[in-house]
Amino acid sequence: MIKTACVTGADRGIGLELVKRLLERGCKVFAGKYASARGALDELREEHPDRLSVIPLDIGSDASVRQAASQIAESAAAIDLIVNNAGILGDIERTVYDEDLDFDEMLQVFNVNALGAFRVVHALLKPLMRSEGKLIANISSEAGSIGAAKRTNWYGYCMSKAALNMQAVLLHNQLREQGGQVLLIHPGWVQTQMRGHLDAGATYTPEQASVHIMDVIADRERYRGDKPAFVDLLGRPYPW
Ligand SMILES: NC(=O)c1ccc[n+]([C@@H]2O[C@H](COP(=O)([O-])OP(=O)(O)OC[C@H]3O[C@@H](n4cnc5c(N)ncnc54)[C@H](OP(=O)(O)O)[C@@H]3O)[C@@H](O)[C@H]2O)c1
Repeated sequence: MIKTACVTGADRGIGLELVKRLLERGCKVFAGKYASARGALDELREEHPDRLSVIPLDIGSDASVRQAASQIAESAAAIDLIVNNAGILGDIERTVYDEDLDFDEMLQVFNVNALGAFRVVHALLKPLMRSEGKLIANISSEAGSIGAAKRTNWYGYCMSKAALNMQAVLLHNQLREQGGQVLLIHPGWVQTQMRGHLDAGATYTPEQASVHIMDVIADRERYRGDKPAFVDLLGRPYPW
């Protein structure tokens, strides 16, 4: 049973909706907030002051992740679920033929999407492994699938999500003997601001996507095995 959860990148989009779903299920939630401006997460906190903690968290920064982890440790001995949701897209237009490929930006995308999730797990490992749940749910992407890759651009994002998937395998290999489990979930094409504007043509609203993602999380035993499951929001396996 999930009693306590931590969600990264929770100030908008899929992360914010996942926080709402977890609160609806009675969980205590630590929600990572990246932007400093007051927003929907702070309003949600006013509705759930005893079960929602808003934690400043930049998963691209060692210091920020360490600080957030010690703040969480002050009020929770155990974390049943870590949802590594925070992510950035970077450039999705340029191909190898473009002269102005931005490698610094790709490093930033990799730092957030791949290393960021690992930083968070590393910093919260003790409370995670002390918990009953011991579950890590990484919001990955179809873009991280090597088997299904068709694009000729999106370099930083696709490579970072493929690295996130590899990280999940390594972690799962390590933690499963102690009851730990990692899930990789492609959330579908979701109407968020990830592209810098509302992606209104996308298939799912963030609320719809979060409901399905929570179903996959709740159904975790179905996906338990030697390797982490890589599935979409409807639980359908995705090619590695
Ligand atoms: N939307 C889709 O169709 C789609 C498809 C496949 C996978 N995904 C994945 O789903 C996840 C959520 O994306 P979304 O669509 O909800 O996008 P979003 O609305 O842009 O939300 C991303 C969240 O991550 C936060 N964030 C960005 N950089 C961060 C950092 N360094 N540290 C901590 N938090 C940071 C953002 O904070 P700010 O609000 O302050 O920027 C925001 O809260 C991502 O991992 C994404 O790759 C999305």
